[in-house]
Amino acid sequence: MTSPRRAPGGFPVVGVIGGGQLARMLQAPAVALGVQLSVLAEAVDASAALVIPSAPVGDHADLDAVCRFAASCDVVTFDHEHVPADVLAALEADGVPLHPSPAALRFAQDKLAMRHRLTEIGVACPRWAQARTRADIETFAAAVGWPIVAKTPRGGYDGKGVRVLRGPEDLDVLDAPGEWLEQVGAPGALADGILVEELVPFERELAVLVARSPSGQASAWPVVQTVQTDGICTEVLAPAPDLDPATAAEATHAALRIAGALGVTGVLAVEMFQVARAAPGHGDGPAVGERPAYLVNELAMRPHNSGHWSIDGAVTSQFEQHLRAVLDLPLGDPRPVASWTVMANVLGGDYAEIYPAYRHVMARDPGAKVHMYGKGVRPGRKIGHVNVSGPDLADARARAQHAADYLQGVIDE
Ligand SMILES: Nc1ncnc2c1ncn2[C@@H]1O[C@H](COP(=O)(O)OP(=O)(O)OP(=O)(O)O)[C@@H](O)[C@H]1O
Ligand SMILES: [Mg+2]
Repeated sequence: MTSPRRAPGGFPVVGVIGGGQLARMLQAPAVALGVQLSVLAEAVDASAALVIPSAPVGDHADLDAVCRFAASCDVVTFDHEHVPADVLAALEADGVPLHPSPAALRFAQDKLAMRHRLTEIGVACPRWAQARTRADIETFAAAVGWPIVAKTPRGGYDGKGVRVLRGPEDLDVLDAPGEWLEQVGAPGALADGILVEELVPFERELAVLVARSPSGQASAWPVVQTVQTDGICTEVLAPAPDLDPATAAEATHAALRIAGALGVTGVLAVEMFQVARAAPGHGDGPAVGERPAYLVNELAMRPHNSGHWSIDGAVTSQFEQHLRAVLDLPLGDPRPVASWTVMANVLGGDYAEIYPAYRHVMARDPGAKVHMYGKGVRPGRKIGHVNVSGPDLADARARAQHAADYLQGVIDE
């Protein structure tokens, strides 16, 4: 029997909670696949609501709104990690197919839960601790050495919720009235304490993107290099240049293992730090040469900024693959279609009216693929990205960066 929710031809409706640019970028492959999307949007002019006809407005933390929304969908997935656990539990109890499941999503929502779980399954992480007091942080710092990194376990994004503590004097900031240490134990982002980590002297940042379907099929894109500026991803190089094949294979294997062990469905992004194999203190057992050349930073269980290159640079983009995975369809081919694809993020800059700059960029470089999110321009806000593919990395990099810089008003010519 055909479910009344289904679109003509028996095609399913995929519900997306959250109407940001990730939900928006699911729409193009959904059109091609013949799958209908419905998005629970923050506002009528949310990025995804502008391109998806079914976009009821509702709060992702409002149980009634979310349940009503889910009742009109065959499966439900997410644009962000912020749906509260009690709302997820109620949906699951109602029998709504959720991808990823709440049990998996927990490890992308809560960095402390993630560190505990990854450590349990033997994945290499920065040295870390769960701190509830100033003394806990001091003890940890004494063990690993200053500087250290303090993080709010929940609700962080784009480097918000990440602080580098250079020395004991920086603890005064966390200890100030209303600050993090005072919020520990109260309901909210710091209910279980603060995550503290060693400041990893990484060589560069990598990301491994994989997809896994409910029936357990999995696929991986090539390992990419990500460049963060002030905590925000600004550039992605696909594949990561000069990455030795053994490290690439190990990192990919780790990401696939995490996806399987945590029961992730849909796209999983594993952010990693590439480190010298001789880095001290990780995985106490193995000899120096056998230590992994990466440490896992964090997980995202949805399409991710590190995978935007795949829209133009891979046979199957992360957005198409996410739809295939959450519908338990056979996964598509993740192989690259060019030697190199470089993605440069466009952050809101000086132009409130970006359209003239956009015309210029297209005229200057017909091969650059410009993706805009339909978002208002605010300084530092992710409003689009540019992909450039080609046989020469330096050329692709220069062209992608030039286009992004021009769109954000950094250069004028
Ligand atoms: N332990 C660490 N050592 C060194 N640098 C770190 C560490 N943790 C985080 N960073 C830096 O801060 C950036 C942001 O950290 P993290 O990914 O944990 O935060 P986030 O705000 O959740 O990020 P996202 O934008 O990916 O959601 C990292 O990409 C890295 O550049
Ligand atoms: Mg991150």
